Amino acid sequence: MSQADQLIIFDTTLRDGEQSPGASMTKDEKVRIGKALEKLHVDVIEAGFPIASPGDFEAVSAVASAVKESTVCGLARALDKDIDRAGEALKEANSARIHTFIATSPIHMQHKLRMTPDQVIEQAVHAVRRARRYTDNVEFSAEDAGRSEIDFLCRIFEAVIDAGATTLNVPDTVGYAMPIQFGELIRQMRERIPNADKAIFSVHCHNDLGLAVANSLSAVSNGARQVECTINGLGERAGNASLEEIVMAVRTRPDIFACQSRLDTTQIVNCSKLVSNITGFPVQPNKAIVGANAFAHESGIHQDGVLKSRETYEIMRAEDVGWSQNRMVLGKHSGRNAFRTRLESLGISFESEEGLNAAFSRFKELADKKHEIFDEDLQALVTDTKTESFNERVKLIALKVCSETGETPHAEVTLIVDSEEEPGAASGGGPVDAAFKAIESIVNSGTELQLYSVNNITSGTDAQGEVTVRLEKGGRIANGQGADTDIVIASAKAYINAVNKILEPVAKAHPQTGDV
Ligand code: KIV
Ligand code: ZN
Repeated sequence: MSQADQLIIFDTTLRDGEQSPGASMTKDEKVRIGKALEKLHVDVIEAGFPIASPGDFEAVSAVASAVKESTVCGLARALDKDIDRAGEALKEANSARIHTFIATSPIHMQHKLRMTPDQVIEQAVHAVRRARRYTDNVEFSAEDAGRSEIDFLCRIFEAVIDAGATTLNVPDTVGYAMPIQFGELIRQMRERIPNADKAIFSVHCHNDLGLAVANSLSAVSNGARQVECTINGLGERAGNASLEEIVMAVRTRPDIFACQSRLDTTQIVNCSKLVSNITGFPVQPNKAIVGANAFAHESGIHQDGVLKSRETYEIMRAEDVGWSQNRMVLGKHSGRNAFRTRLESLGISFESEEGLNAAFSRFKELADKKHEIFDEDLQALVTDTKTESFNERVKLIALKVCSETGETPHAEVTLIVDSEEEPGAASGGGPVDAAFKAIESIVNSGTELQLYSVNNITSGTDAQGEVTVRLEKGGRIANGQGADTDIVIASAKAYINAVNKILEPVAKAHPQTGDV
């Protein structure tokens, strides 16, 4: 593929996606998602904002060491300290990119930066030159470009190309743009900037008006050759442009788009499930491409048509995005080696033999309750096992719940809190409510329950239930997940997982609003 024919896919699930309240990920979780994105053949993985916290720095370094086929990118404001930190975090990458940004809209320059346009250009140029000390792959973003003046965008982009930027990103930071106007902006800039041919134009759209994908595609039609997006459209507020929708739109309509991505689209559903499982953000059933109903034909007329000839109602094949890969992979008699090999094929490895052993005994317990174990079960099991190996102050030891017609449900729970075993009991409106109250009788977390949702991981009544619990305390949000064939136990695990996250002190800066 020549450069003009290739659509570069820049995935920012691990950075902008993680900025979604409650979607923060641990280092190991980021590595797992990074490996899955590499298998999807994503071109650039934005792994985080290294100066945000020591944890973010370590996560970016770990992804840079683990991922070999994709370029790994770190975000940096146009400040020396951010750029140096990003350069340091990316030291081990096979291919590294530094992504530096500064705001360019009048509203941001006046009120946030309190800088003149000339000062902003000077700082941007300085930042790009500094980033070039670490790598020749430097991206510059004009934050809030969607509300910036085109004359100013042309000036700053021309200057940063001269300073060494190789990708120019045009973010619609607040999701304000309209498709026709946004495409036109890209077309005009490509025409007006004298050295435009020396860089690739990129777009980064937020979904506040539900137009992130439409705006991105309009930009691609007008010459943008990189799209920044996230799996499942995860991201701040209404999210970022969804990777799967952009990639499949371009692939399904080659008559419209003059470029193609090099993604292995059969990995899309795996990535979607993994991100949903790790962040606890469920995918709505009617979500394009990755929703459970995206390829289900409910009405009789549609089913009849699809049976006669699938093109009557299907514009894509479910197997092309990875739906049909959902098959039984392991069972009760599978051994440790088969288990390890299957996990490796999912991009999951353990740092120690103990980690693998713990996961394997969880697998055996699960296989006793459930005959067929699917890849999704393994992903959920590993998420559960790996989270338990983190610094968790609260652990579930035992749970007993009585629920009977005409009686008030009652739960008895035993937890370990900071190495001390503690019993608790409570009654509640239902078995799950009783279990949560029993846990609270011990931990007194002072949190408020904001969301409780249950999904079955695979089909059948013996499927594992995957529960998400969202807790809030003093403005902080934590999502917890738990999976089990018993949904009350899955619920208790999810609640405890969220409590552990909220108890963990985090000092992490936001790239666009926080001080570092
Ligand atoms: O939305 C935005 O403007 C961003 C930049 C940091 C690229 O995320
Ligand atoms: Zn963004």
